[in-house]
Amino acid sequence: MTETQFTPRVFSGIQPSGNLHLGNYLGALKRFVDMQQPDMETIYCMVDLHAITVWQDPKELAHSTRELCAGFIAAGLDPEKSILFNQSQVPEHAQLAWIFNCVARMGWMQRMTQWKDKAGKNQQNASLGLFAYPSLMAADILIYHATHVPVGDDQKQHLELTRDIAIKFNHDYGVDFFPITEPVIEGAATRVMSLRDGSKKMSKSDPSDMSRINMTDDADTIAKKIRKAKTDPEALPSELDGLDERPEARNLVNIYAALSDQTAEQVLTEFGGKQFGEFKPMLAELAVSKLSPISSEMARLMGEEAEIDRILAKGAEKARAIATPILQQTYEIVGMVGAKQG
Ligand code: TYM
Repeated sequence: MTETQFTPRVFSGIQPSGNLHLGNYLGALKRFVDMQQPDMETIYCMVDLHAITVWQDPKELAHSTRELCAGFIAAGLDPEKSILFNQSQVPEHAQLAWIFNCVARMGWMQRMTQWKDKAGKNQQNASLGLFAYPSLMAADILIYHATHVPVGDDQKQHLELTRDIAIKFNHDYGVDFFPITEPVIEGAATRVMSLRDGSKKMSKSDPSDMSRINMTDDADTIAKKIRKAKTDPEALPSELDGLDERPEARNLVNIYAALSDQTAEQVLTEFGGKQFGEFKPMLAELAVSKLSPISSEMARLMGEEAEIDRILAKGAEKARAIATPILQQTYEIVGMVGAKQG
């Protein structure tokens, strides 16, 4: 199968659970905005069905979904140029996921590192949804025949599984129906690390709020978190290999690079030889100048709940127009009586 059979189409999603943080922004959301180009169809989803694989307070889930939508728009996604919607409102995701549950193998799911990390030692008590999560994620992507999926590094294994599901479906049914999707894991910040521990990923589940910058943090909080970020006593190197074995220094350099649309090499050319006492205030200033306009726009949009709901509803309608015929064709391929092309 050649990829040219499929029109280039971008899909990605973010969970509306907890706060949107700098890792989500630099690893995913900012990249979503970069890919919003005139010649590219872009579809971005608030994956509320994924969020409930671990229990969510219903009121908080609704709030987080709207806040995430506000974050998408504040960061530069334009509902006229990209399709923005929440997953539960396009039922074809869950319908295709069922078919994929019957294609994917138990062994594939058991190998997923996120399943192992999230379920921890008590797998028997984890939800069935958490186990089947990657199959729904494959359905999110393939229900649109998406060809490109921008994500952070931690989603790589799930995207490999998406490819495996597409390959097995195509093989089992003797068709060339689902594309073999390309992961797009690019930029200086595909893995933003905790500000307190350079060996841990920045994450919404870290109990320490000082470990992450939330997109809703005000300027003083952002500056304080950067000032207190863990570092080492050495000056910054001038070359990239000088960051080996210095995960905290590497992380701050990567964050600076991603925020200023530069490479880490370029940042080191500018700051090599400087101490953190000098670099951190520059980073704080840059972070505040890039993030504050987003957080204030998010706050403004959150005052217009009806407008957000309208955007989501319109997005779901546009998404369904693509998803419905693809689901119908899938049903026909599988042999479901009554399936008609929409
Ligand atoms: P989620 O909600 O955990 O994260 C959303 C996006 O943010 C990226 N990300 C990071 N990037 C860099 N550094 C970090 N510290 C960091 N933390 C998170 C993630 O890689 C992701 O791109 N399973 C997905 C959501 C999903 C999805 C999809 C994505 C559901 N269906 C289909 C793509 C396509 C997730 O839990 O992301």
